[in-house]
Amino acid sequence: MALAAVKAGEAGSDAARLLMGGYSQNACVTPLALSPSRWPETYVPIRRIQFTSMDEVLEIMKPQSADGIPLIIEGSEIVEVEKWASPSFVQSLLKDKKVLVKKSATCKFRYFDLKKNIGKFDFQQPVEEVQETFSEFSRESEKLLEEGSDARMYLQETLSGHCEMAEEFATWKWELPIRISAACGWGLPDSNELFVGMHGAETPLHFDERENLFFQIRGQKEIVVFPFVDYKRLYPFPTTHPCDRQSMVGSPVDPDVTAFPEFLGAVGHFATLKAGDLLYLPYGWWHWLRNLEHMAMSISFWSTTPSTDFANGIPDKFTDHMLTRVKRNLESLIAQQFGPENLNSSMLDLKKAVESKEDVAVLQYARSLLSAVKLPPEEQDGFLLEVVQGRFGIDWNRYV
Ligand code: FUM
Ligand code: FE
Repeated sequence: MALAAVKAGEAGSDAARLLMGGYSQNACVTPLALSPSRWPETYVPIRRIQFTSMDEVLEIMKPQSADGIPLIIEGSEIVEVEKWASPSFVQSLLKDKKVLVKKSATCKFRYFDLKKNIGKFDFQQPVEEVQETFSEFSRESEKLLEEGSDARMYLQETLSGHCEMAEEFATWKWELPIRISAACGWGLPDSNELFVGMHGAETPLHFDERENLFFQIRGQKEIVVFPFVDYKRLYPFPTTHPCDRQSMVGSPVDPDVTAFPEFLGAVGHFATLKAGDLLYLPYGWWHWLRNLEHMAMSISFWSTTPSTDFANGIPDKFTDHMLTRVKRNLESLIAQQFGPENLNSSMLDLKKAVESKEDVAVLQYARSLLSAVKLPPEEQDGFLLEVVQGRFGIDWNRYV
């Protein structure tokens, strides 16, 4: 359906710590360069600034990070985009090293982690993962294009340990990401991931639990992001599912608003990233991306966010950001307490108990956790319903 058309106390401190723990053309069709999508009028463009000086960027980034709002910095030149303009340059960098290449029968590259399937969901992996050299990846991609296939390939490689790229790493201007991380109180940038995608290849809506400085190095990529606190509007898969951290909505281009009606209330922030743009993607923000050009490339610079510590006691009022982390961790704790394989029934029991005001074990447990984060009793039922609503008692495979 086109979106436009519808258009407690002391003993609680351990528990508190634990709890903190559109519409466009079909993306898979040719031509090689796709036009950016059109988004609902309520969506807002991501703010852009020009790199002027390091000090000025840091002054802008500090409040931006404190408030957790995305930003695009143009002209930072942290990686030399001119060199990367030619895919043969990347091939000369990676040489014959095998890298992770994902293959999908469609344009969608849903992330999953089979090790996370502690809920023992019946799950068929939607994307094949292989190790190939860059030249194999490039040759096979060209072949798919020649055949006019809908299938797509997406190279997604973590660069740690790529000694053959040492000389290239030495040319990167690390000072900017390092000083941004220091100024914003993050950990040092500690990992990079390289993305090289065929045009139309899409990364479905998901969030990452890290701060991301995302550098567009070649070609154009469109992105739509939604605030972390929009948790209930994005319908995450259960935390015990291989698609943990992924939104069942999948794509903001063509959301199933019958299954996910709350998504209509979500306000996207959008941009078309061009070579040389550095996007700040704050912790937890939901993101969807689509390569508009063949062999578009990006590199992420990831940093950790320090975990919330309660050295000075538990705050009287938890921020919305903290309460969103609480939602996720509450679910994981219920899975631990009542069995990961029983999470679906535990969550449905919880919903029923809230609605019928029954006093059952899972509700007592949830209430004890919420009291630990000082959520007033009168707000607890609404909070719990938001965690369960639309996410349990369904066929998750439909949305993988
Ligand atoms: O497709 C992508 O560039 C995905 C990036 C991300 O999820 O961080
Ligand atoms: Fe991501």
